[in-house]
Amino acid sequence: GKTVEVWLSAQEAECNLDGYKRPCMTFNGTVPGPLITASWGDNLVIHVTNNLKANGTAIHWHGLRQLDSVEYDGVPGVTQCAIAPGKTLTYRFKVTQYGSTWYHSHFSLQYSEGLFGPMILHGPATANYDEDLGVLFLQDWSHRTIFSAWDWKQKYGITHSLSNLLINGANTFDCSVYGGADPNCVGGGKKSQLVFKPGKKYLIRLTNVALDSQFRFSIDGHKLKVIANDLVPIVPYETDSVVLSAAQRYDIVVEAKANPGNYWMRAQWVNHCAAVANDNPGSGTAIVRYDTKSTSDPTSTTNVTLPATCADEPKQNLVPHVKMDVTNIAGTTLENLNMRLTHEGVFQWTINSSSLIIDWANPTLKRILNGDDIFPTPYNIIPVEKTANHSRTDEWAILVIENRAAGALGYVAHPIHMHGHDFWILAQTQDAHWDGTTASFNLKNPPRRDTAVLPAHGFLAIAFRLDNPGVWLVHCHIAWHASQGLALEFVEREGAISVRGRDRRAFDDTCRGWDRWV
Ligand code: C2O
Repeated sequence: GKTVEVWLSAQEAECNLDGYKRPCMTFNGTVPGPLITASWGDNLVIHVTNNLKANGTAIHWHGLRQLDSVEYDGVPGVTQCAIAPGKTLTYRFKVTQYGSTWYHSHFSLQYSEGLFGPMILHGPATANYDEDLGVLFLQDWSHRTIFSAWDWKQKYGITHSLSNLLINGANTFDCSVYGGADPNCVGGGKKSQLVFKPGKKYLIRLTNVALDSQFRFSIDGHKLKVIANDLVPIVPYETDSVVLSAAQRYDIVVEAKANPGNYWMRAQWVNHCAAVANDNPGSGTAIVRYDTKSTSDPTSTTNVTLPATCADEPKQNLVPHVKMDVTNIAGTTLENLNMRLTHEGVFQWTINSSSLIIDWANPTLKRILNGDDIFPTPYNIIPVEKTANHSRTDEWAILVIENRAAGALGYVAHPIHMHGHDFWILAQTQDAHWDGTTASFNLKNPPRRDTAVLPAHGFLAIAFRLDNPGVWLVHCHIAWHASQGLALEFVEREGAISVRGRDRRAFDDTCRGWDRWV
């Protein structure tokens, strides 16, 4: 593999993504940030400079396994200290997967301020297409800064914290919603567009970078052939629409029509995923144009209706291209981790009655490398290790998360993301409790990915192989919920964790004075 070097600067700016001016945070001055591309087997060297005035930052490469490089996973308080203003941290890791993903700040709610960008990792193609149109971001956007939206939300419990839905960082907005009196509403927003030529096939890498929202994506009059979920190629299937929760990706191939026209692309907001349905920020639309001279809006319509529940794509569709049965895991090498998700007080999510509290000044990985004892711990930091034989890679853990939040809050589905692993989805069931056994688990080539929905009043069972010693976060990718404690840390094979003589700059330089930036 070659070495690919990238420079990112986190910096404040004024954004006008949809005709509304507000302060935002950017990589290198733009939202979304610059495209990072590399190939399977390459070494990425990414210099991140924090040019924010008064915030720390840390960047996570979503879905990348960080095999043997846990110290560059980018989670402040877990795998590193935040990068203090004026400092640079160089992330170095090998690309061991291929497909479509994104990178984003993992510091508090920062990615929802604009600190995210696309990542394309080239590898063997599993479908034919004529042109790669790159990542298509589906995004929700607030006209407040996310930190003031958060205060608003903590104070009033809800809502109207989202203002618009964007596709590739753009949309229009109707200022009359604000009575025409808001001086920041300057108008002039535009729809994103893609250009199609008759008869050609296009690869589009759908990526949901929402703070909160689940979307049903479709293109009027066109079929979508789905070829990958997250970083895992799947046996292609054809559909009119695809559902994406926060942080999920689907690669699709779309065949252009023989007869040109202009068509809407739609990111419809799935309100069953929200506790408060009236928070709907409208609709995200963009345009597929065959006629680049045309400037008029499409007049196309859709038959795609919203699903009746908040769920992932049907599991029978998500068949991994590289078949991997896990029928062997139900034997002796199993670690069962049963978690109950509940909701306590007004705004605190808990797993097994505890929220994750992160010690920002003492990242878990730093403590481990220093030889500190981290167990027992009062928080959700969990040892995952079946035997003390650290050279074994044939052992597995199964994590079952039950959605036991009471009442309306139990209707909220949660996109659960695990760092350091793609996981096998053994069960994903709505409106039922887990029976405590593996009897109902699907072990034959189950869906594999890095983010999956925990259904309403139900449970999610996932398996992962203990082949990546490190400290890994598991969390709901609804940014509010992660900040409300809906997360846990796995310490996988603690005795085998090391940075093997590599540099420890993730801790040394940037830890000093870190707590000034909380
Ligand atoms: Cu997309 Cu914990 O991250």
